[in-house]
Amino acid sequence: MLLRGDHVVEDDAGVRHRTVRPVSAVCRCGRSGTLPWCDSTHRLLPREQRP
Ligand code: FES
Repeated sequence: MLLRGDHVVEDDAGVRHRTVRPVSAVCRCGRSGTLPWCDSTHRLLPREQRP
């Protein structure tokens, strides 16, 4: 999921993460090493497990 502009994403623990780029990708697979942001780890998942 791509966010354009300034946004704040709140994770499951209630921690708020502010976007710092013009376009930010939010992880939807839950496997990113940089949650809540996508680090492209989803590409390593089997196709049926990708978001
Ligand atoms: S969607 Fe989770 S790493 Fe990209």
